Amino acid sequence: TRIAVMVSGGGTNLQALIDAQKSGIIHSGQIELVISNREDAYALERAKRNGIPALVAKQEEEMIRGLEEAEIDLVVLAGFLKILSPAFIRRFENRIINIHPALIPSFCGKGAYGLHVHEMALDYGVKVTGATVHFVNEVPDGGKIILQKAVEVREGDTPEVLQRRVMEQAEWIILPKATEMISEKILEGRI
Ligand code: GRF
Repeated sequence: TRIAVMVSGGGTNLQALIDAQKSGIIHSGQIELVISNREDAYALERAKRNGIPALVAKQEEEMIRGLEEAEIDLVVLAGFLKILSPAFIRRFENRIINIHPALIPSFCGKGAYGLHVHEMALDYGVKVTGATVHFVNEVPDGGKIILQKAVEVREGDTPEVLQRRVMEQAEWIILPKATEMISEKILEGRI
């Protein structure tokens, strides 16, 4: 399975995917392309350092052209902060997965991304939060859930401290696992 990872920022989830491919956790697919909608994304540095072709694209047409030229089978959104159009999503029906830093259906939907998700969780006073990997459909954070992992919220947590814990203890674990699961299904023609 030929995988593309779409990024916008630091790329710590991309790094987790790269490390998972090296360690064999991801063995049914390989990362062939990284696409960023921002030229200053540190994720691009991570791709370069690991010999992965990278593309900076602002328009969806450019993204689609890059995905088609690389004959991509699975698109993984890893800290990608742009809402994709229904046309893009239909073009890659059931072939796009996303990591959301909360337990969907909590703290998700339009405007719920990055640090703000953790601010919402702390404001609400939940004792448990976590991360979700789901298929992408036209509804922001609305697609079928693939994997989730819970993380405890501790007394005195700031949004930054909570975000770090959710990344380390949930995101960086379930995104590689889900990517392997879906890559294997695609490889075996089961989706
Ligand atoms: C993190 O908040 C993550 O939860 C979300 O995007 C942010 C940055 O991720 N998916 P990354 O370090 O760019 O992978």
